Amino acid sequence: MSEYLPFTRPTIDAQTIEDVGDVLRSGWITTGPKVEQFERGLADYLGGQRQVRTFLHATGALEEALVVCGIGPGDEVIVPAMTFAASANVVVRLGAKPVLVDVDLKSRSLLLDQAAAAVTPKTRAIMPVHLNGLAADLDGVYALAKQHRLRVVEDAAQAIGTLYKGRKLGSFGDLVVFSFHANKNLTTIEGGAVSLTSPEEARTLEVLRFHGITKYPDGTMDVTRAASKHNMTDVAACVGLAQLRRLDEFNHKRRQLAYRYFELLGDEKLGVVPARGDEGHSWHMFTLLPHYNKACPDRKTLRERMHKRGIGLGIHYQALNQFTLYKNMGYPEGRFPNAERIGRETVTLPLFPAMALSEVERVCEALGECLTTA
Ligand SMILES: Cc1ncc(COP(=O)(O)O)c(C=O)c1O
Repeated sequence: MSEYLPFTRPTIDAQTIEDVGDVLRSGWITTGPKVEQFERGLADYLGGQRQVRTFLHATGALEEALVVCGIGPGDEVIVPAMTFAASANVVVRLGAKPVLVDVDLKSRSLLLDQAAAAVTPKTRAIMPVHLNGLAADLDGVYALAKQHRLRVVEDAAQAIGTLYKGRKLGSFGDLVVFSFHANKNLTTIEGGAVSLTSPEEARTLEVLRFHGITKYPDGTMDVTRAASKHNMTDVAACVGLAQLRRLDEFNHKRRQLAYRYFELLGDEKLGVVPARGDEGHSWHMFTLLPHYNKACPDRKTLRERMHKRGIGLGIHYQALNQFTLYKNMGYPEGRFPNAERIGRETVTLPLFPAMALSEVERVCEALGECLTTA
């Protein structure tokens, strides 16, 4: 039997492990020169015109990006109903209200007409999510934001290296947040970053990520707000630097794997395939809405059968209003038909840089068998 194929797996090479050893032996293991180097590396990767500040995770980065925008109690932020819970949770944590809108079934991106209809006098920001590595319709989002004077916090947790109309996400735009969690296209094990233009707002992020502390040249410091602690370590940044060197190679491989999936599943006999996007799609994940039927009535059955064949399928994600918190916030089931269908049916197929193209065939053959034979 072939080796178990998970839906994702990080690629950590021998050089990275050696570099981490050097940092661990150096005597400086928390935030220091490697973090600075990683932030400069990210800024260069994004074209050199942006401020980049790293965080312990994208969740903290998203929350503090909203704080920079002045979001607080009484404010509303528009968030797609199909995303990871963190996107909306951070809004709730600030005492503001996430106003959920449905997504397109194929791109899984927020529906702009619904976002436009959701704007009220309390709306302060909109959070497009570049789910699975596919850029949301940013022209539309920024036009809406301009019309209503909204801030835009892009949740690009899954989209480092993604291009929108030929430009890298994070090389433009208001506040753009990346995740470097273990399964992301670039990992620091856990980690995140904000890309933005304003040096003043970048300084505020520095204060917000480290106890509200401002340090002065004379060696003294002041604490101006009761901030939290989100600073990345040098060990993590060292992993990030090694990953950044290979990011374009990783994303190229992801595209090849996705295109092979399209060759084998593109006729949609086995299920609804995701929007293909253009060459800028970084293919963080390849998701399918399988055609369940008498022989294979539901996702649970499919995942169990695939697991028995040595193949892991992920679930990304349940819709937000399929969770108690958001259901109880006034978003009953039935409100977001596309997001909820995705939430009930979606599976994530294996896709990661070290995966062989032949393994895509193995996955598709197994899917065919599992979906058609009881
Ligand atoms: C869309 C989205 N937003 C936010 C996050 C949170 O990222 P982190 O785990 O780095 O906090 C994730 C992580 O999976 C995500 O997928």
